[in-house]
Amino acid sequence: MTDTTRQALQQQLIGLHVNGEDHEVLTEPRRTLVDVLRHDLRLTGTHVGCEHGICGACTVLLDGSPVRACLMFAAQAEGSEIRTVESLAPGRELSDLQQAFSEHHGLQCGFCTPGFLMLAEGFLAERPEASKEEIREVVASNLCRCTGYQSIVEAIDDCATSRRAALRHRIEGTGEDEEAPCSSATRSR
Ligand code: FES
Ligand code: FES
Repeated sequence: MTDTTRQALQQQLIGLHVNGEDHEVLTEPRRTLVDVLRHDLRLTGTHVGCEHGICGACTVLLDGSPVRACLMFAAQAEGSEIRTVESLAPGRELSDLQQAFSEHHGLQCGFCTPGFLMLAEGFLAERPEASKEEIREVVASNLCRCTGYQSIVEAIDDCATSRRAALRHRIEGTGEDEEAPCSSATRSR
């Protein structure tokens, strides 16, 4: 049996639901979710750093919760809703969270940024009332070698504050903005 035949026999068809779309991928069972996202689905916004679960650059949302995509097999994600950083701003406009990172200089080289964005997106969905201390604790799970973290904490806190204010306005029936922007600044790239 040739190597190519052996490889073909080892492949399996898996179905992944990513950013609202269904995909079928023929892959080896041992391949990680981050590799399939990047190489098979060409969703290269998710980065790969340590490949050991330490840096968090590969963070995506699995059924709403942040996970390290380098630590799980793609086949394990079958049947789950997967969200990558590409889902935050499908059009040309930044999401409120991305805009907050931009305004607070929450990135420099940007390598860690997709991971921090998805970590924050999942966390704020679960804890919209999070305090700055809680945000500080959560971002400590990912590594950034450039920013010193303070600007990342400020960005997430600003976004959370704006989302809460927009929600209050909607509940009180006085707000006109449905999108909970993080600031009044222009949101175009
Ligand atoms: S690449 Fe996954 S945690 Fe570092
Ligand atoms: S912005 Fe460079 S590693 Fe975080």
